[in-house]
Amino acid sequence: MLDIKNKRVLSGIQPSGDLHIGNYFGAIKQHIALQENNDCFYFIANYHALTSINDREKLEKATLEVALDYLALGLDPEKATLFVQSDVPEVTELAWFLSCVTPMGLLERAHSYKDKISKGISPNHGLFAYPVLMAADILIYDSELVPVGKDQKQHLEMTRDMAIKFNNTFGETLVLPEELIMPEVAVVPGIDGQKMSKSYGNTIEIFAPEKVLKKKIMSIVTDSTPLDAPKDPDSNNVYMLYKLFATKEEGEEMRRKFLAGGYGYGEAKKELLEKMLTYFGPARKRREELLNNLDFVRDVLKQGAEKARAKAQEVMKRVRESAGILKFNV
Ligand code: ADP
Ligand code: TRP
Repeated sequence: MLDIKNKRVLSGIQPSGDLHIGNYFGAIKQHIALQENNDCFYFIANYHALTSINDREKLEKATLEVALDYLALGLDPEKATLFVQSDVPEVTELAWFLSCVTPMGLLERAHSYKDKISKGISPNHGLFAYPVLMAADILIYDSELVPVGKDQKQHLEMTRDMAIKFNNTFGETLVLPEELIMPEVAVVPGIDGQKMSKSYGNTIEIFAPEKVLKKKIMSIVTDSTPLDAPKDPDSNNVYMLYKLFATKEEGEEMRRKFLAGGYGYGEAKKELLEKMLTYFGPARKRREELLNNLDFVRDVLKQGAEKARAKAQEVMKRVRESAGILKFNV
């Protein structure tokens, strides 16, 4: 596990649909582990989501769902601060300051912007300015460490570039954050064997109803080696997924059975389903409880926002003063 201590850790989570087990093993599990020894701020990036979602109900629902998911999966509001991005509106103010020191060329080189356009998303200005808002998210809390997947590496580099440019222009004001590229336990494969991703439609959702989980797991693509024949565990999606949930010994046991032959994919899939249900059992139960206690969830988000906003206001005061923006209504 991550042996990192006493840092201001910050990360943002896009409210973009049901979380899947790739998200869990690739990101959420590490986020939650970091809360033990660090001062973690995690926020739900609903302003960022506006660059691609323009359906009010969908955005509202997805925002609350991320909070439910994180709390169910073990985020402890006594240890970490969970809040919604838009509850700290100062972040858009900082984004403006950063915009004014960000060369166009820097944004034009952003891979994520180019990727999104090539997928047919219409290029609005929010999408283009996305990395500036993301930099503001990070810099406004004096964040030291930002755990993200490797797809976000360039955004972190851009954040540092913006902070350096601001500091060079106006004097030392912003803390330079470090990236923490989360060790991908492995790239979690989807039911078709490609990387599990919402965009490939091959996901297994953490909180899907049992029936749906069963259907998805039973449809994991496998080869056509006959039942009696030995099977290669290392090119086998069922085994790859099972290993994520099982103890080392249980993993070894399944490996042995595949190598020995006479052990079919159907049986292995059933074991995978059982393991997954046991692994996420407590979280699934907790999510049900939270659904019946939304006031608690709202309260967590309110308190989180108050704490985060107090920090943001302190940093914004520094930023305005550095840049010569006078403020008369405080
Ligand atoms: P998706 O590809 O489904 O849109 P996101 O890009 O929203 O997922 O990913 C959110 C986080 O989950 C990122 O930190 C990413 O690295 C991690 N993640 C997503 N899919 C996987 C996967 N299949 N294996 C490991 N980590 C993943
Ligand atoms: N861009 C990130 C993603 O798509 C989400 C995000 C927004 C973020 N602001 C952030 C992550 C600040 C880390 C820090 O996953």
